[in-house]
Amino acid sequence: MVIDSRQVRQEPGDRRPRLRVRRAFSLGVVGLLTAAGVLALSGPASAASTLGGAAAAKGRYFGAAVAANHLGEAPYATTLDTEFNAVTPENEMKWDAVESSRNSFNFGSADQIVGHAQGKGMKIRGHTLVWHSQLPGWVGGLSATELRSAMNNHITKVMQHYQGKIYAWDVVNEAFQDGNSGAGRSSPFQDKLGDGFIEEAFRTARAADPGAKLCYNDYNTDGQNAKSNAVYAMVKDFKARGVPIDCVGFQSHFNNQSPVPGDYQQNLQRFADLGVDVQITELDIEGSGTAQADNYRRVTQACLAVSRCTGITVWGVTDKYSWRASGTPLLFDNNYAKKPAYTAVLTALGGTSGGGGGGGGGASCTASYSETQRWGDRFNGQVTVTAGSSAISDWTVTVTVRSAQSVSTTWNGTPSWDSSGKVMTMRPNGNGNLGAGAATSFGFTVMANGDWSAPAIGSCTAS
Ligand code: XIL
Repeated sequence: MVIDSRQVRQEPGDRRPRLRVRRAFSLGVVGLLTAAGVLALSGPASAASTLGGAAAAKGRYFGAAVAANHLGEAPYATTLDTEFNAVTPENEMKWDAVESSRNSFNFGSADQIVGHAQGKGMKIRGHTLVWHSQLPGWVGGLSATELRSAMNNHITKVMQHYQGKIYAWDVVNEAFQDGNSGAGRSSPFQDKLGDGFIEEAFRTARAADPGAKLCYNDYNTDGQNAKSNAVYAMVKDFKARGVPIDCVGFQSHFNNQSPVPGDYQQNLQRFADLGVDVQITELDIEGSGTAQADNYRRVTQACLAVSRCTGITVWGVTDKYSWRASGTPLLFDNNYAKKPAYTAVLTALGGTSGGGGGGGGGASCTASYSETQRWGDRFNGQVTVTAGSSAISDWTVTVTVRSAQSVSTTWNGTPSWDSSGKVMTMRPNGNGNLGAGAATSFGFTVMANGDWSAPAIGSCTAS
């Protein structure tokens, strides 16, 4: 039913210094290891070996909610850039972030995300213009007349700032009540302007940026129920009367209390049949292992089965920074390792993990990491490079250490460094010949300087 664990949570103040990483091999699929764990990473990436690539092959995007304050964390940015081809700012475009005092706009953090995404050719979903939550106090204090003008000003200024850059805007978010009433949720907008505020917001939005798709977005609307019926009736009415609306977003925050509905696909389809696109906008599914993977597969298959389902966005890159971190609801774990849910989604999208099997005999390799020794101030890491199903004559692997760390020694490889000194590209010592399935290792010592995190190992590339 109702997801009542959805209190507004403070962002954990991540104060890591920014680490700008120039990646020589941006194909890198990142894996971080616990001291004991070993993880295999595969490459080279091909169009269908990443979520974004596989979704693109199906004419769709695969996005993640992104927080500006994590973009400086190398494995976060690398995972985002490698796997996803769309972003939604998790909080940075909300009213309290961009207009905390009336008609004074601050786009700093949102611009950071937009700049990053544009640099990578990613689609951007704008989230969100009119919402009862994360709304600064001054909005609630306005008279109806003033509120109408403040709402329209907000929509107009924010959309014009990003004009031409946003694929789709969540114009209005969560405007309906949970439960059976089918009525509007109490908010300054609903209470002072009545139901008509939604229509007004959409009309204002169309005028502000005619190039952006305009979406209505909500939760607990993922299956057919009183709430989704109310949204359905609104969309139908908008289409009939020519009120501009292009898409409906289904947040899709799932857990045991709010599981993936049995009629998820049918519900997406009935909205699409009204003549709007549908999008899965904030997907996260609490759980782990096979059960979680099965749910993610169902959701992905449902989107693929609905031709107007244009894309899926998961609500975060890694469990580590999820708004529901304790429920481990995302596709990458705290160490940026791919979870079974990741593989389920990739496979459902028609993609294949790189490396082994499906590649048809091309040169490939995998890299796995383990920590081999630790002292009071430093640790040794070892990376094992294993050739895929054919022999290779050369390979490279990138190793990215944290900003506090530095690599003091290396062995059994030829390293080169980027300008930050944190990204090491390792090549073979001498020739790089490895027979099919054969392995070699290189090693290095990391001065921890207080940060004992495992380095990020980029994907292995072979020729
Ligand atoms: C959440 C963010 O993930 C949190 O960081 C923030 O503290 C609260 O909001 N529905 C939405 C999203 O439309 O904007 C919410 O995001 C999650 C629920």
